[in-house]
Amino acid sequence: MKLVLATANPDKAVEIRSIIGASVYGLELAPRPAEVADVVEDGDTLEANARLKARAIADAAQLPALADDTGLEIDALGGAPGIHAARYAGEDATYADNVAKVLAEMESITDPAERRARFRTVVMVRWPDGREVVAEGVVEGHITAGPRGDGGFGYDPIFVPDDTAPRSFSELSDDEKNAISHRGRALRALAEALAD
Ligand code: IMP
Repeated sequence: MKLVLATANPDKAVEIRSIIGASVYGLELAPRPAEVADVVEDGDTLEANARLKARAIADAAQLPALADDTGLEIDALGGAPGIHAARYAGEDATYADNVAKVLAEMESITDPAERRARFRTVVMVRWPDGREVVAEGVVEGHITAGPRGDGGFGYDPIFVPDDTAPRSFSELSDDEKNAISHRGRALRALAEALAD
């Protein structure tokens, strides 16, 4: 089976390749075609945004495309940043800007029980004719008081999954993160759905 990767985020691409490579035997995952313009992710849901990316790449490559979209839901912030995780601190925000904004907004909340959060990923394979297979993965945890660890990307330094507490995603090896992460769970569910 040959799929084209729809993500333009190199950090996500590394994880996706590692997880899906271990889950689907004989899969060829082609890189995102460089000539395709950035996709405007203006959908209202993770699934809608995954679909926008998958459709653009499937149309351009005339091959099935694999897309994902991830949100971070923080209960104390009413579910923010949610689907706006990439640009939470502004249009050109860096990972560090987004982390700093979350920590500043949660400064007054000291009880970890009130700092509950979850990552949610929707993954999708979409064929040029419009057929789709969709799956979702969630990991529950809490937001730390400050950044911890050197690994990972995005909000990893401030997210502690329940499964590995007290270690943050940034304090896990790549394999440890992929085994329990939102993206790992979503991609393994997708692999099962594809096998069906
Ligand atoms: P996207 O919309 O799926 O590209 O992801 C939105 C943003 O969520 C990214 O820019 C990252 O800041 C954050 N993000 C996505 N996946 C992860 C992850 O596995 N760990 C930490 N942050 C992530």
